[in-house]
Amino acid sequence: MGARIKTSKTNSRGNLPARWNQSMQLNYGTPTLQLERGKGIEVWDVEGKKYLDFLGGIATNIMGHNNTKVAKAISEQAKTLSHISNFYAHAPGMELAEELIQMTGSSSARVFFCNSGAEANEAALKLSRLTGRKGVVAAKGAFHGRTMGALSLTGQPAKRNPFKPLLRNIRHVDYGDIKALKRAVSKRTAMVILEPIMGEAGVVVPPTGYLKAAREICDTKGALLVIDAVQTGMGRTGSWFGYEDEGITPDVITIAKGIGGGLPLGAMIALGNCSQLLQPGMHGTTFGGNPISCSAALAVIDQINDGNHLQLNKVKGALIRNLISPIIGVKEVRGRGLLIGIVLQSNQSKTVSEKLQQRGFLTNPAADNVIRIAPAFIVTEPQILKFVSAFNEVCEEVFRG
Ligand SMILES: Cc1ncc(COP(=O)(O)O)c(C=O)c1O
Repeated sequence: MGARIKTSKTNSRGNLPARWNQSMQLNYGTPTLQLERGKGIEVWDVEGKKYLDFLGGIATNIMGHNNTKVAKAISEQAKTLSHISNFYAHAPGMELAEELIQMTGSSSARVFFCNSGAEANEAALKLSRLTGRKGVVAAKGAFHGRTMGALSLTGQPAKRNPFKPLLRNIRHVDYGDIKALKRAVSKRTAMVILEPIMGEAGVVVPPTGYLKAAREICDTKGALLVIDAVQTGMGRTGSWFGYEDEGITPDVITIAKGIGGGLPLGAMIALGNCSQLLQPGMHGTTFGGNPISCSAALAVIDQINDGNHLQLNKVKGALIRNLISPIIGVKEVRGRGLLIGIVLQSNQSKTVSEKLQQRGFLTNPAADNVIRIAPAFIVTEPQILKFVSAFNEVCEEVFRG
């Protein structure tokens, strides 16, 4: 048997593409960077170069890399119980469910744990079938995941088309258009699913009142309102799930990404009557809500509360928006809290993101003209200022030079 390759030297930039392409499928494209370690919002590549991570594992590492409390929670839990199946109860799982219920403000809420955002939305879709209805209304441009059910909800043709036929009875309407939503929802609609802000679509914020109107439309027709808070959730936008400003109560909330502080964890939270719809044996997953991921999540929630991060995320988000808005080449800065889409005046997001990476900043070109940033909540003002300065330099080069 050949020895397993362990040293980072063999993974240097020089042979990364070849090694990747000889072992991985093509779905992610070939990465240009191999990361080795991180601390806070800093990460280092295998050649020792440091980056400030303004993407945070796509809105996921909300307490940063190598967070001491999360690492401690994971290792302590691994020393006692790491996996026991869902035949048995465990303290971290129940404690976490209780925390999430409290965040919803509704004691009727009940939690189903899974491992990812797609699975959380699959669970919501299955739950909606138990109403006896089959129809679904979702938004054009929305992203709800890539498994066949979640992909059927996703409103992006490029991601859907290669995999057709998808589920039937799903209509996609213009996001933010109340009249279109009203026309699409009928007495046959089981659920309407909406992101509070469309993250993957390029951080698209709906007009004020949109979610409130969606709530009213769902109430009139008897459809469930599912809020996909996978990207907006866990305090990123300055509230726990991203819909609270509209003063609504959804029937279902789906979360993933940030909740596990970097570990795979998702949840489908059902409120009110629909919290009683799933019956024993109807749904499940082996790893969902395992003790280690739940312990990590509890360490994340404690730190969000102790650090007053909900409030601080709003302040930091406003600072970033105010400083980035006047920069040359920037058309608009969208988003709320620490979910931010920088809209450029032309389709140069890939170039800008690449140049930022060269300067030691990780971002994401979410659309041809949009740079998305979603840093960990622990990002500091000096780090924000460094990012803004690099962003300014890159834009000077791209848009003036
Ligand atoms: C709003 C939203 N829903 C669902 C998903 C899918 O989550 P996952 O990749 O964990 O399956 C994502 C991922 O980006 C998302 O942003």
